[in-house]
Amino acid sequence: AIEGLPAVPPMGWNSWNTFGCNITEQIVREQADALVATGLRDAGYRHVIVDDCWAAPLRAADGSLQAEPSRFPSGMAALGQYLHERGLKFGLYSGASDQTCTQLLGTYPGSTGSRGHEEQDARTFADWQVDYLKYDWCSSDSDHGEQVTAFTAMRDAIRDTGRPIVYSINPNSGVADMVPGAEFDWGGVATMTRITNDIAPVWSTNADSSGPQGVIDIVDAAQALAARVGPSAFNDPDMLVVGVDGNPGLTLAQQRTQMSMWAMMAAPLIAGNDLTRMSTQTLDLLRNRAVIAIDQDERVSAGAPVDDDAEIWARAIGEKGLVVSLTNRDDHPRPMSVSLSSLGLVGDVTVSAIDAWTGRRYQAEAGEITVDVGVNDTVLLQIA
Ligand code: GLA
Repeated sequence: AIEGLPAVPPMGWNSWNTFGCNITEQIVREQADALVATGLRDAGYRHVIVDDCWAAPLRAADGSLQAEPSRFPSGMAALGQYLHERGLKFGLYSGASDQTCTQLLGTYPGSTGSRGHEEQDARTFADWQVDYLKYDWCSSDSDHGEQVTAFTAMRDAIRDTGRPIVYSINPNSGVADMVPGAEFDWGGVATMTRITNDIAPVWSTNADSSGPQGVIDIVDAAQALAARVGPSAFNDPDMLVVGVDGNPGLTLAQQRTQMSMWAMMAAPLIAGNDLTRMSTQTLDLLRNRAVIAIDQDERVSAGAPVDDDAEIWARAIGEKGLVVSLTNRDDHPRPMSVSLSSLGLVGDVTVSAIDAWTGRRYQAEAGEITVDVGVNDTVLLQIA
């Protein structure tokens, strides 16, 4: 763990998936209030991250970034103070090249990326009491050396401020032909590193890495990278889409699978739904204490498939605990089994398991644990 930075995956809420460029300080405050009122803050969701489009299209006369005045009239320092007064943390977004992603796409004006302004911008963020920086590679230039230089420059600039700031980087979207998470381990650079393209609130887009990916596509892309995860160094399979409207969207079971698998991956849990109008079912998924405890386990060892079976993952927890996930990818409910020997549990052991979602207890029989799993649902077994 790095001093001042979280040893376990960050949790919070991000403005992008629901509000995009329409984000305002009023919305951020309402979402922050909802984090408190719903108990999500106390369940661990503390970082409130204002994504792209908070910045005015032009820098100030002295070259510093400034808030877009019509949507953030009170300014960013005031917003940070509002969050801190409520026991929350303050996150902001910037671009690692000349432009942010919407600026590159032409859907938002300006060129306010931080490349070449790293020291000044890091000082601005520290002055505003920012606790978390999402730093996004948005450039048609996918030169790897450029990426390393740019992401390292901001890491150093943040360090020089002396303020502990979670550094969340994204080298993997908006870059054509980038293999997800490939060729380079960013663990020495960032607290958390995006390993895939942007998530879409659907089960699968069957897309290659150059387009938005569904929940289960991202699970598949992440499995090869588990070994990179450790205290203060997390893979970021992108944000939660639990409760986020989509077309066709996700079933409740598919959303439970996202929460389950993000916990198996020791992934950051960053909600992106409108917290002021969520269903009880959405809240119950986001707030489940047993599942959050798996995600936040201090050993920070990411899970991986058992015997190369993409539907069954195991994750080591604590000193000698084990969690097993069973995900049904079929279009009909079915019983699924995992053998104790495949989990390394051999000999004369009595094994029982508890489903983290339902609290239901299962007993191993003839060396196997068998559970009924709904369509695209996941049973999350805590082995004891
Ligand atoms: C990229 C990122 C997204 C979001 C947008 C904002 O696409 O991957 O998470 O930050 O930029 O423009």
